[in-house]
Amino acid sequence: MAFTFFFRDLPALHAIRDHVIPELRRHRYINVWDAGCAMGPEPYSLAIIFREALGCYGFKRMKIYATDLDEESHQFGKIIAEGIYPEETVKRIPKDIFRKYFSPNNRPGYFKIADEIMQCVSFQKHDLRTLKPVRDNFGLIVCKNVLLHLSESERVNVIKMFHKFLMPGGFFVTEQTQKMPNQIVHLFKQITTNVQLFEKR
Ligand SMILES: C[S@@+](CC[C@H](N)C(=O)[O-])C[C@H]1O[C@@H](n2cnc3c(N)ncnc32)[C@H](O)[C@@H]1O
Repeated sequence: MAFTFFFRDLPALHAIRDHVIPELRRHRYINVWDAGCAMGPEPYSLAIIFREALGCYGFKRMKIYATDLDEESHQFGKIIAEGIYPEETVKRIPKDIFRKYFSPNNRPGYFKIADEIMQCVSFQKHDLRTLKPVRDNFGLIVCKNVLLHLSESERVNVIKMFHKFLMPGGFFVTEQTQKMPNQIVHLFKQITTNVQLFEKR
């Protein structure tokens, strides 16, 4: 099973809250692609950050497209659609957020995420190496702890594809240990130093 958990990268979530959402909220619709989402804690953490910032009404304008290779058929789509997660994946969520968006499930030690958050996220099986996006005009693309599984040339091509299908001024986030390859560094402006957050040039 792929390794992931809720609120895995707090600095990245805070950078999205502080730099990305204030820009994207000006748009009528907000489309986010979480590429390599595993079984859902990352897209659901993003959804919670957007819901907190946009409020109930603004949040209805957004959609998160969560995709993964799901190579070993772990049924990520089914897990995401159920929205029920074990305690070890939710224990790092700030307490106030946890109380607001999770409720205990019948199964001891498991928690269910709020319907409002679940409705914003849809899953598709997708291989980034096809270089075909799941749609265009994304305001934000998040691809974390995935690119390291690709070769250098695949990585460059995937990031070029992300760049092409971001809206003008759209954002891209990857993990802190993943540096932007030199040959495509000119495509983006880096927004923060503590998070690999980039704006499309
Ligand atoms: C370690 S998990 C990262 C999950 C989440 N992004 C996070 O950071 O918590 C890596 C995920 O990348 C997915 N992955 C690897 N290669 C991929 C590809 N070519 N296309 C789409 N997903 C891929 C794997 O299936 C796995 O679920």
